[in-house]
Amino acid sequence: MREYYIAGNWKMHKTRAEAAELARALVGQLKDGKHKYLVAPSFTLLETVAAIVKGTNIRLGAQNAAAEEQGAHTGEVSVLQLKDLGVQTVILGHSERRHTYGEDDALINKKLKLALRHGLEVILCVGELLEEREAGRAEAVCETQTVKGLEGVAAGDLGRVVIAYEPVWAIGTGKTATPEDADAIHAYIRGVIGKLYGPEAAGKIIIQYGGSVKPENAAQLMAKENIDGALVGGAALKTETFVPIAKFS
Ligand code: PGA
Repeated sequence: MREYYIAGNWKMHKTRAEAAELARALVGQLKDGKHKYLVAPSFTLLETVAAIVKGTNIRLGAQNAAAEEQGAHTGEVSVLQLKDLGVQTVILGHSERRHTYGEDDALINKKLKLALRHGLEVILCVGELLEEREAGRAEAVCETQTVKGLEGVAAGDLGRVVIAYEPVWAIGTGKTATPEDADAIHAYIRGVIGKLYGPEAAGKIIIQYGGSVKPENAAQLMAKENIDGALVGGAALKTETFVPIAKFS
């Protein structure tokens, strides 16, 4: 059986003091939580948060990583540097990276393979724009992003890959995909994994939903057969909203 995995993407928010306060509160409030948890703060907050979540049931994630190990790459942060801080997971291919910062599937695939090679877990984000959904292309877009994102990834490494389906039109907009619409895309992506890696891998892979997940809609989303957790943005910034999502029942 797949376990539920609830991740908080803090995006470009919080100072070290604010991050420490939130991380400490989450450690306390989620210590009896039954699911798998992760927080992904900004690079500058990782060391602070690492010291707080170390040895707890909350994993430490980064929101991005460079495609190269080291070298002349001004402004980039390497997986080696992230690992050195205690990072266990990297979020790659987030729609803000794809659409605001121009990351394409080839670059995301390069980053993903490097992160896997260094033993990290990867959350690979996929999802369609509103115009792509309206044109009936949601499935095709998610399929392309999944196939290209995973190109060259060995079956043995797939256990460290999580997919996050995040329809771009639902991110930070307050609009959530209906549980039925989200589940349909999750099922489709699971089918894509089945075509690439076989039915057993398809049955095992964790597929999170992301896009305006809130305490009010978390349980209905998670009740769906193919939705295995959430990648939470805005609601991850406060315990009052993240903890009820993390402890949905
Ligand atoms: P949101 O963001 O929950 O604020 O919509 C989700 C995400 O971008 O991961």
